[in-house]
Amino acid sequence: MRRLANRIRLLPKVMRLASHAPRNPGEAWERYWNTVGTEDAEILWDSGRHDEGRPYEELVLRHLDTRLPVVDVGCGNGTWTRWLAERFPLALGVDLSASAVHQAARESAGVPNAEFDAVDALGPGAGAALRERLGEANVFIRGLFHILKPEAQHRLAATLHDVVGTRGRVLLTETNFRGSGLAYIEHLGATGDHIPGPLRAAIETLPPPRHFGASELRRAFPDSEWRLLEERDVVIEAVPMAEPGVPVRIPGYCAVLAPR
Ligand SMILES: C[S@@+](CC[C@H](N)C(=O)[O-])C[C@H]1O[C@@H](n2cnc3c(N)ncnc32)[C@H](O)[C@@H]1O
Repeated sequence: MRRLANRIRLLPKVMRLASHAPRNPGEAWERYWNTVGTEDAEILWDSGRHDEGRPYEELVLRHLDTRLPVVDVGCGNGTWTRWLAERFPLALGVDLSASAVHQAARESAGVPNAEFDAVDALGPGAGAALRERLGEANVFIRGLFHILKPEAQHRLAATLHDVVGTRGRVLLTETNFRGSGLAYIEHLGATGDHIPGPLRAAIETLPPPRHFGASELRRAFPDSEWRLLEERDVVIEAVPMAEPGVPVRIPGYCAVLAPR
């Protein structure tokens, strides 16, 4: 009963915030990256810790050729590009938002092997251009598929096919919360009385997230073009919101794919 009352108070607040979000994804992401990245405006999915990376580390060692470069597609502020730069000869972080790329480059000053560029991974020829620049490369993606509609997910997979050539692999990791949008927002720490700042910033600028798991992967990466090497459930860490100092743990899904 209390839970229902909480939801009844939360719903109109969420709807009011979401009504401010730009419809155009490019505009939405640019606005988001212009408003976050300071101590007072934390990035929702950047817990600042890399405990989450342990399963990725295992998958990198098991499946990826670490002599090839890696492209971090949708790199945001470059947190994971910097993690990759310690493991690959070159980590190129690319993002649709010029402000994200700017922030990533600023935060990565002096980090060897990390570079950044503004690229729309859904734009025509994006994959071919990356391939021409780097040769065959691995791809790392965290948190991009789950914000795209199925048709765009399919197009993104086609871009990645152009990047990997024959030797590159795709390692993707996505949030996969299977409840309703409102249940997700509650899981992240919102109540009828309070919506934490990092969550509020996302709701009022960004398109609503979806979930991305085994069935979504199979639709986006057709069997005729991709071989699934491994998949597993993981935990995606977001900034502390429900409890001070404790990152919010979001159910996630991770997979490694090879091109056919
Ligand atoms: C949820 S954030 C994840 C950021 C980063 N991967 C991380 O885990 O910290 C999704 C990122 O994808 C970027 N993005 C959205 N659409 C894109 C596109 N079409 N091409 C490249 N990047 C895109 C956004 O600007 C944003 O930085």
